[in-house]
Amino acid sequence: MTDARVDEIRASDLRGLVADPRALDALVAHGDPVVYRVVTAPGGLADGVGLAVTTIERGSVGDELFMTRGHVHRDASAETYVCTEGVGGLLLSDGARAEWIELRPGDVASIPGGRAHRTVNVGRERFSFLAVFELGAGNDYETVAKRGMGARVLRSGDGYRVVDTGHAGRATG
Ligand code: F6R
Ligand code: MN
Repeated sequence: MTDARVDEIRASDLRGLVADPRALDALVAHGDPVVYRVVTAPGGLADGVGLAVTTIERGSVGDELFMTRGHVHRDASAETYVCTEGVGGLLLSDGARAEWIELRPGDVASIPGGRAHRTVNVGRERFSFLAVFELGAGNDYETVAKRGMGARVLRSGDGYRVVDTGHAGRATG
């Protein structure tokens, strides 16, 4: 993918999405690190199929492990993720209930149409996955910013825990 598009998402791009805004401010003040990169195949594959590779760095905002912003497809199309590196997971939300699926290299996860989805790096290395999706799905980020994902993934000792937050209508806190 020599002519691929690379998007870098930094800590400052997670404003309004994290549990601890002060920890985020501190991280931004300390160099505003890249949280994840998305490499997208230009034009996608054949027949309206898009392809992108996301790599999430190891790290956290306070106790909340590095994660993607999360979105819902405006056209309610489904998507498939294939983990290629590291240990992470996929948070799914239908607006009422959250679901967590842990992903290791070789694991395949299906995102049903209409579900909000966010990925999180819970391992000691980078976490990478390949996404196959419908071109023109249209990513809606506002819904997740407004209602959250219904759960947060926090560092816990050497591991992690998934904490239910409910869909209280706010993404912060
Ligand atoms: C595409 C898709 C992924 C994400 C990527 C970054 O439909 O789900 O390629 O776009 O993992 O996550 P967001 O877009 O939530 O910042
Ligand atoms: Mn998607």
